[in-house]
Parts: sequence; C-alpha cells; structure tokens
Amino acid sequence: MNKICIIGASGKLGVYMVKHALARDYEVVGVCRKKSVDKLDEFKDRITIVPGATNDRNVIKKAVEGCDGVLTVLVPWGNNQYSSGTAKAVLDFAKEGARLVFSCGWHISQDGKDVYSTSFKRKLRMATWVGKFFRVVDIYDQEMATRLIFNGKSRWTVVRGSDLEEGESQGLPMWSAHVGDPILDSNITRRIDFALFMVEALISDDLIHKSPAIVGCQTSSALAFTSN
Ligand SMILES: NC(=O)c1ccc[n+]([C@@H]2O[C@H](COP(=O)([O-])OP(=O)(O)OC[C@H]3O[C@@H](n4cnc5c(N)ncnc54)[C@H](OP(=O)(O)O)[C@@H]3O)[C@@H](O)[C@H]2O)c1
Repeated sequence: MNKICIIGASGKLGVYMVKHALARDYEVVGVCRKKSVDKLDEFKDRITIVPGATNDRNVIKKAVEGCDGVLTVLVPWGNNQYSSGTAKAVLDFAKEGARLVFSCGWHISQDGKDVYSTSFKRKLRMATWVGKFFRVVDIYDQEMATRLIFNGKSRWTVVRGSDLEEGESQGLPMWSAHVGDPILDSNITRRIDFALFMVEALISDDLIHKSPAIVGCQTSSALAFTSN
C-alpha cells in the first residue's frame, strides 16, 4: 500500500484517518468540501487535497486515480443521494484491485442476521423519520450505498461503527460479524480507534467482503470475550 485516498478527510473520523495513514508513511490524497479545506491546514504540506462534494463524480475520479486504497466516510447527509452517489463514484473509478474501505453505523446489515435491541430500533426509526422530514439526513440512501457496495465485485470492506466517544487510543477495536453478538454489548468505540480499524483494514485481506461491527478493545464486553 503506497498511495491512498481519504474521502471525507476533514471530518472527525477523517482527520484521525489522515493521521494514522501518515504515520504509516502512505501518500495521502484527501477529499473534502471546499468550505472545509482549512480544517486540514495542519497537514497541508504533507497531503494532496482535492476540494469538492464527495458525490461529485469528477472530484472522485481525479482523487482516486492511482490509489492502492480508498477510505470513504459514508454519511447520509441531505436528500440528494450523497451516500449512494459517493459509493457509486468510488466503485466506478477506483483502480482495479484497490482496497476499498467504507464507514457506516451498526444499523447497516449485510445479511439481515443482525439482532438489534428495541431501543436501538426505536432510535433508528426516529432518526430516519426526523432526518427525512427535515430533509437533512437520508438513512435509506446510506442503506442503498451499502447495497451497491455489497453487490460489487471490488475488494471492499464495510466497517460498522458502534456509538463513538473521544479520548486517547485504546488500541485496535475488536469486531464481530453480527450486531447482537455478546462481544459488542458495550456499544462504544473511541473515534480514533474506529479510524485505526479503517486504516488497518486496508491491509487486512481477511476483511475483504465483510462488514465487521466494531467495539472498543478495552470495553467490558470485549474484555469479557477475551477472558473466556
Ligand atoms: N457519530 C456517531 O456516533 C457514529 C456512530 C457509528 C458510526 N458512525 C459513522 O462514522 C462515520 C463518521 O462519523 P462521525 O460522527 O465521526 O462524523 P465525521 O467524521 O465528522 O464525518 C462527517 C463527514 O460528513 C461531512 N459533512 C458534514 N455535514 C455535511 C453536509 N451537510 N453535506 C455533506 N457532507 C457533510 C463532513 O465534512 P466537512 O468536514 O466538510 O463538514 C465529514 O466528512 C460515518 O460513516 C458514520 O455513519 C458514526
């Protein structure tokens, strides 16, 4: 892995991914909205920035050119196919054989075998409804984006984040194939470690065509799993 692209580089998760990628000496290209370019000021001499909307096909085509890996922050903003447009552009333009790693939340299910708590389902229904009503968030479009990825032939991984918190790194998160597995019960991960998992996934061939649901490695449910 020499050159990678980070799509959504100026966000909280994105900035952590930039730091992890530079620590590995990867050449980094970052995509972010024009108005957010200054959020990447601390890296401006070390990364190439391609400003623009992440669902702009020309922006993505230019940014992913020659990249061995692409890390994409999939966000369900707005009501103009932001997530699915972003995913489609990455799938269409990433070079053949590139490792593609996408972020989302636990609500995405690859095979329908995830088991969600009643409170999780209630919160998701509420977020979906409120987001759609005010036209600010389109959870269905994020689901559409991941359908496109799951059905694609590229070397993809979809990393499903639990609830997130800030704080020092605790190490690489643990993961499971299905929400509802006891290891995930704590439902919390440090954002810096979510980013670490995304960057590590670029070189983890055992995660190809999987959608790991992650949890912090120092959480009680992860520690209970390790001690058994
Ligand atoms: N937040 C959580 O608790 C949580 C839980 C589980 C999984 N996740 C997943 O983690 C990933 C990132 O989550 P995060 O909370 O850490 O957020 P984040 O890193 O701050 O990412 C937000 C991204 O969305 C962009 N964005 C913000 N407003 C936008 C708008 N109106 N139109 C277009 N783009 C916009 C930001 O770009 P700018 O820098 O330009 O604003 C940034 O790239 C997502 O894939 C999310 O599904 C989040």
